[in-house]
Amino acid sequence: MNKLIDPQGRHIHKLRLALLDACNFRCVYCMPKNPKFLPNEKLIPRDEIFRISQILLGYGIDEIRITGGEPTLRTDFLDIVRDLSSLNLKKLGLTTNGLHFEKILPELSKTNLSNINFSLDSLNKAGFEAMTGSPHLKKVLESVFMAKELGFNVKLNVVLMKGINSREILDFVEFSGKYEIEVRFLELMRIGEARESFERHFISAEEVIKEIETLSQLKPVERPIDSTSFNYHLDNGAQIGFIASESRPFCGGCSRLRLSADGQIRPCLMKSEGFSLINKNEEEILELLHKTMALKPIDRIYDVSQPMNQIGG
Ligand code: 5AD
Ligand code: SF4
Repeated sequence: MNKLIDPQGRHIHKLRLALLDACNFRCVYCMPKNPKFLPNEKLIPRDEIFRISQILLGYGIDEIRITGGEPTLRTDFLDIVRDLSSLNLKKLGLTTNGLHFEKILPELSKTNLSNINFSLDSLNKAGFEAMTGSPHLKKVLESVFMAKELGFNVKLNVVLMKGINSREILDFVEFSGKYEIEVRFLELMRIGEARESFERHFISAEEVIKEIETLSQLKPVERPIDSTSFNYHLDNGAQIGFIASESRPFCGGCSRLRLSADGQIRPCLMKSEGFSLINKNEEEILELLHKTMALKPIDRIYDVSQPMNQIGG
């Protein structure tokens, strides 16, 4: 089997696949004030997603996570999932804001998509609206519970911002224990919109851990070496993870490439360079994969100006 090994010796076997850059939320740390979205004709077409994924599979990509923007907004979203589901992937996952999910979930449960990460930054209506611009907390929570009931491996992504949702840390811990759903606290990253408010709102994983320790002991859980999170088990049954990309970057073990919504293969969340794979043949794609891997940073890059919704979370 061909393997993708980057110049630092990192084995690249995961793909983040952004289906589009548009979103029906306006998360304060993600969306610019006046976002510009790709016109439909610039989006990577469904058949190209399938063809490119098949080729990547031949080079050892065995995990795909579908992201956006909000990927479920694509009218061919389910078809794309069904296509990818027919490939022999080890893992097919989705990151979503979970709105408008009641029709989609039963269909998704017929596919091989197994992992759903919901972006859910607040458990109260006002906080949720302040973070996302959306009044639909209730609907998102319904989606989360329905996904759990249908047997998906469900996680919550919580981007913590001091003074906005940082009061809710222990509420999330309680939620995780009560509903047996893993909660992952994400450190705010200096990407696009978030750069400006970073100093005011950043809260480190270390600070969060100190707060949780007032409630419970944290027992470390073993994770794979290329995991982006470190995880703990709590006495109340909660599973808590931390994605501490600012204070504990995980670049050394990175195993990912990204495909943007306009079909560019990209080396890293923090890098704007990329090469379009659309309509390229296998030989050209392999060459571009190696060019892209050579651009993968060794250490954490300080910041990036491109908005997060364009990069794909
Ligand atoms: N910092 C940290 N996390 C972010 N996300 C989007 N923008 C940022 C940022 N600036 C999160 C989303 C989503 C995940 C893929 O990335 O909330 O859950
Ligand atoms: Fe949409 Fe996700 Fe960005 Fe929020 S973080 S605006 S849900 S793409």
